[in-house]
Amino acid sequence: MREEIINCSNEVTAFVANNESDVEAFRIKYSGKKGILNDFFARFKDVPNNEKKETGQVLNQLKMLVAEKIESLTSQFQSGQQSTIKIDDYTRPAQFDFAGSRHPISIVRNKMISIFERMGFSVEEGPEIEDDWHNFSALNFPPEHPARDMQDTFFIDTNPDIALRTHTSSVQIRVMENNKPPIRSIFPGRVYRNEAISARAHCFFHQIEGLYVDKNVTFADLKHALLHFSREMFDSKTNIRLRPSYFPFTEPSAEMDISCNLCGGEGCAFCKYTGWVEILGCGMVDPNVLQNCNIDPTVYTGYAFGVGVERITNLLYGVKDLRMFSENDIRFLEQFEGA
Ligand code: DAH
Repeated sequence: MREEIINCSNEVTAFVANNESDVEAFRIKYSGKKGILNDFFARFKDVPNNEKKETGQVLNQLKMLVAEKIESLTSQFQSGQQSTIKIDDYTRPAQFDFAGSRHPISIVRNKMISIFERMGFSVEEGPEIEDDWHNFSALNFPPEHPARDMQDTFFIDTNPDIALRTHTSSVQIRVMENNKPPIRSIFPGRVYRNEAISARAHCFFHQIEGLYVDKNVTFADLKHALLHFSREMFDSKTNIRLRPSYFPFTEPSAEMDISCNLCGGEGCAFCKYTGWVEILGCGMVDPNVLQNCNIDPTVYTGYAFGVGVERITNLLYGVKDLRMFSENDIRFLEQFEGA
């Protein structure tokens, strides 16, 4: 009988069903009232005592096997799949499953990172929950500076010392505190601001910060790095212009425009007929900031810049509403291709 049970197990394993009625026939044949399993159990009492243990084991295994098989066959037909695929038309083109696509912000961030990596920048990250020192004080923000305002900054548990970072400039401080020059790094990451959410503003967005500190780093180095970045990111005809500006952590400070990539600088509605669009803030690291990180400003100089990833993505793809980046609407997301 042991042999018989083993043969039967092999049959069960090999069984293939083509439709639901095959499954039902299988169930009746093996575990129906007058089915094979009951028959084996009825005959079990005649098995000689010295074989009972081994025979009982294989019989119980068969019982489990039949139950599992019925379950898997049933679920197969419930979910509409069949174990044997019938192909009627061999010329039919294959169907490809949409495997998902990378988020546009990730595509653009990765492209930006790889441009700077080719220029010799390493990539570092810092925490999104920051203290006042790294987000503001060490960056030379005066105590009464409006950026510290509760209206702009998300503070944690009303503790005025801990906040969600409002910019990736905080990572400059962490990196300079922990490394000696030369430092040439970029810091990509998410930043948070207490803004009313609209097409043009969001409570979180992404930045990439750049920092280069060494002996004899000049404004000309900054300008050249940013020109190269802009031409790699947009096209080789892109021009840049730097306008004087103010940031507490850079001196001098500038904002950078690129020639409008939609009209090539001719002037259009997008660039408000100026031919230029602003893309980033930059400048020479303020000596106070170097000092705050124990880097001697009489020996070293540095430049820094901060670019918004959403801004660049909008320029490249013409996305008009920032909220689309965080809505997870597949119809929007599947339109982007890239690594
Ligand atoms: N942190 C600034 C912001 O969020 C951007 C910025 C401006 C970064 C100038 C810099 C810089 O490193 O030098 O608006």
